[in-house]
Amino acid sequence: MSLPCSRLLAANGVVFLGQIIDKIDRQDAAIKSIELETHRSSTMNFRGNHILSVKQFDRDSVEQVFQVADDMEPYAHRLRMTKVLDGAILGNMFFEPSTRTRVSFGCAFNLLGGDVRETTDVKSSSITKGESLYDTARVISGYSDVIVMRHPQPGSVAEFAKASRVPVVNGGDGSNEHPSQALLDLYTIKKELHSNSRSIDGMRIAMVGDLKHGRTVHSLSQLLLLYRNIHFTLISPTELRMPESIVSNLQAAGHEVTETEEMEQGLQDNDTVYLTRIQEERFDSKLEADIYRGRFRLNQAIYTRHCQPNTVIMHPLPRDSRADANELDNDLNQHPSLAIFRQTDNGVLVRMALFALILDVADIVEDTASEVSWYTESRFEE
Ligand code: NCD
Repeated sequence: MSLPCSRLLAANGVVFLGQIIDKIDRQDAAIKSIELETHRSSTMNFRGNHILSVKQFDRDSVEQVFQVADDMEPYAHRLRMTKVLDGAILGNMFFEPSTRTRVSFGCAFNLLGGDVRETTDVKSSSITKGESLYDTARVISGYSDVIVMRHPQPGSVAEFAKASRVPVVNGGDGSNEHPSQALLDLYTIKKELHSNSRSIDGMRIAMVGDLKHGRTVHSLSQLLLLYRNIHFTLISPTELRMPESIVSNLQAAGHEVTETEEMEQGLQDNDTVYLTRIQEERFDSKLEADIYRGRFRLNQAIYTRHCQPNTVIMHPLPRDSRADANELDNDLNQHPSLAIFRQTDNGVLVRMALFALILDVADIVEDTASEVSWYTESRFEE
């Protein structure tokens, strides 16, 4: 593990460096133990089951989610409404900051006719009184039909799920995984590449930024394991490299992986560039995160100079738009290849699909459907 020792020692002293290494070791150990517990199944039964990791999916089950997501479009686009989940309750529990994941899960459930109960503030929950994940899971699963949970500790959502009496969807567990984000990212990649007459098999993707702590890139690359002959260019500072276990899994599955610190060179010849934020909350201090902030930036000039025309630009959001970071510049906002807001729109479709499959209503959504009665001028791109 090579950290920029001189800078850290100068700024923070030896004890601080020791703490960083200790924290990294603990995180790696937590991730390894989760890897041992999760297996990729050949066929997936969604009904009544948890979604904790992309490792649960095979290619057919990913396709099944995408097909149901396609079917959700008229409802998500406010052309029709359905009451298929009338009476059902989603427990939306977010013990870490979130905007789009939390709101889009809630919105997806509402669009299927269900109700949403949210817990968003750790301070106002009984977790601050020392309640265990086990007890919280036992209690909340008595009030809900399905639970989405986000928590800062890797493995915590799987632990919560063991005690839950209803299906649990992992909305992000620390730096470990974010399966629904990976599904919506892949759904977006598929659609974007399709409009360029390309496919996921054989594509070239660059992942940029904090690949060590970024759970979205961990889940996305492991989902891409299911496809064939992909070229990954992993652009990050050495200290923030993609975990070795993920890189070796990609290579073992026959994918080509290039790791580099040189962004401009790494951007060339890709179908998709997936940018990420420096995950400041996973560092011991803002000072440490500042070392890396702003190192990799994409703007119109860099895109024109180094990317192939039509390279799809993605980011899970939020993008850090502060001047010292500005990882994805606003001057690309009107660029037709900027897919970030198509990603967020697709998130609703994919999350509706997950709920429909888990609660086993995917085939009867239309039974309670009707036209919407309010003004809905189209705001969705076709
Ligand atoms: C990501 C997350 O929370 O992991 N955001 C999201 O869910 N769309 C990425 C991030 O916070 O940088």
